[in-house]
Amino acid sequence: MTSLTLQAPAKINLTLDILRHREDGYHELCMVMQSVSLCDRIRLDFGSPGGIRAESGLRFLPNDKSNLAVAAALAFRQATGGRWQDLLISLQKRIPVCAGTAGGSSDAAAVLRALNQWAGEPLSPPELARTGEQVGSDVPYCVLGGTALAEGRGERLTALHSLPACWVVVCKPEFSVSTPELFAQIDRVKLRRRPDTTGMLEALAQGDLAGAARRMYNVFEDVLPERRYSTVASIKNTLIQCGALGATMSGTGPTAFGLFDQEESARQAWKTLSGEYRDTFLAHTV
Ligand code: C5P
Repeated sequence: MTSLTLQAPAKINLTLDILRHREDGYHELCMVMQSVSLCDRIRLDFGSPGGIRAESGLRFLPNDKSNLAVAAALAFRQATGGRWQDLLISLQKRIPVCAGTAGGSSDAAAVLRALNQWAGEPLSPPELARTGEQVGSDVPYCVLGGTALAEGRGERLTALHSLPACWVVVCKPEFSVSTPELFAQIDRVKLRRRPDTTGMLEALAQGDLAGAARRMYNVFEDVLPERRYSTVASIKNTLIQCGALGATMSGTGPTAFGLFDQEESARQAWKTLSGEYRDTFLAHTV
């Protein structure tokens, strides 16, 4: 039996803007994404009898095709006309679940990349991203990784100048947020503030970490219920007080993160927030 081990990095949104509600029910987005070193570990056991399935040891994560990693393996098999039957996907989760950091999408993308390699690269990178699109809107970005602009549903990608290397403190409060509910909520309000995406792209092109950090913004912060928002705002305040160059929420949240150019400040922020929030991580950009 062949086995492979892989890593699936989390993503953070340096910006997240919503341009409009589309006829197909999705939203037209404009987001600057970044991968970070916080990652899930995945083991693939080919030929392990029992069909294509996942295991994670977590009660709340499904093991069938409603797990994005299994959906990705099924989509890959269909796209390539594969006849293989058995694959066990063992997930060692570290990225918080339902947290706005693309944990499930990143697992799916890692499975797609690994299967493509294992099968001798039958799919080109754009074909692999299109296969990922069937699994979830963030999967194509996770296939590409790094610093990228994601538009459309999230599948139209442009690789960007990398965000200058920095420390990232990632902190998820105890509650979870429903992505479809938050998207529905955003249709009911008038956005008060939008991210300066052009300014963000210029800062990235100039390698200006402080300029990029200053321009981070996510429109979903505007529609979090008051009680939820006060927790996210308090995490952001702590990050800034500890020396973050900027702090914002990632995806549909509730995870917030801060960027640091000094390791010591990042460690201090990690230590302070860890005392209150179990899911606090010290990471760096990848
Ligand atoms: O594509 P994915 O399954 O990750 O999307 C989950 C949900 O997020 C969708 O059902 C939709 O409610 C919302 N969504 C959206 N517009 C996008 C991406 C996601 O409205 N561009």
